[in-house]
Amino acid sequence: MKKTQTSFNIETREIFKRLFGENTMLTEQLNRLLNDTTALIDSAGDTKTLYGIRVAVLGKNGSLTGILRGLKDLKNEERPVAGKLANDVRETIERELAQKEERLSDEEMERRLLYEKVDLTLDKKPFIVGKIHPLNAVLKKSVAFFVGLGFRVEESREIETVYYNFDALNTAPDHPARDAQDTFFITQDILLRSQTSTGQIRVMEKTRPPIRIISPGRVYRSDEADATHTPCFNQIEGLVVDKGVTMCDLKAVLESYAKFLFSDCTKIRFRPSYFPFTEPSVEVDASCPACHGSGCRICKGTGWIEILGAGMVNRNVLKGVGIDSDVYTGYAFGMGLNRITAIIHGITDARVPFEGDVRFLKQF
Ligand code: DAH
Repeated sequence: MKKTQTSFNIETREIFKRLFGENTMLTEQLNRLLNDTTALIDSAGDTKTLYGIRVAVLGKNGSLTGILRGLKDLKNEERPVAGKLANDVRETIERELAQKEERLSDEEMERRLLYEKVDLTLDKKPFIVGKIHPLNAVLKKSVAFFVGLGFRVEESREIETVYYNFDALNTAPDHPARDAQDTFFITQDILLRSQTSTGQIRVMEKTRPPIRIISPGRVYRSDEADATHTPCFNQIEGLVVDKGVTMCDLKAVLESYAKFLFSDCTKIRFRPSYFPFTEPSVEVDASCPACHGSGCRICKGTGWIEILGAGMVNRNVLKGVGIDSDVYTGYAFGMGLNRITAIIHGITDARVPFEGDVRFLKQF
């Protein structure tokens, strides 16, 4: 329904006419305002425009608000009638705005419902969830195990001196590991650590027994990358120094670790070996997690897989950091995280975990 003219309430207009005559300025102003506003409301096509009209007419600085404010300057006897008239105009405009607003917002809602349909038959976009890298997963699991036994995590630095990487670890001056063929030297005295055993010395220098730490981190060796070598890999070092620490303690901890890592039926064995910083030294094998000892391709038919090196801390090492080796004894162990991860997941090429190939990573 299209309206072109809206009038004041008849009674008010009559009274007003009697008081001011038909052509007073105020009547004309209000009449024109009402007609103009009504026309604008009629032609408004959306609620936003309607809101604009509301503000322009009824807002703080709106045209009707201005007229209403002017009423106070009228004579006393004129003011009540003029006030009533102006109020009627305001009420009419309010009503018309509200009616149109309701209609327009209904229409707008209908239009939105029509256009903003969600098509539930559309395929959703593939949602790719990141995974923990297998190396980090084994690291986390190992750290959790040792922390559970009361070990503290002490990361050490990757750039080291010859002293921490070799001398303090009781390594003979002519030991082949010192060779530039094996170790990345930065200067004659500074190198990229080739083993996390350096962390042992740094910890023993600044703490007194009882000491019970693991030190995980990256190590570097100047190896050509191939299926069994990478120039950078990860190790976890372990160190316990206290009164009365024996090789039995070492064996118990490592056996629990191997069971935790592989399975409950895993056994370990110690084979005599040599490391400059431990005496006696051992290499530790775990029963093959793939064939449980019966012999397979993975353990090359032996039923055993070497998992780490260990031993009782050499007296010379303790002496070097000022710990009395007549009072304290200790054990240490060091394992290659990459190797352990490869055993768990059957990874046959040492380079693959570094390549970031999602086809590899997706499998875990
Ligand atoms: N640092 C040795 C390596 O990189 C591993 C190792 C062997 C660490 C025996 C130890 C240990 O603490 O007792 O080959």
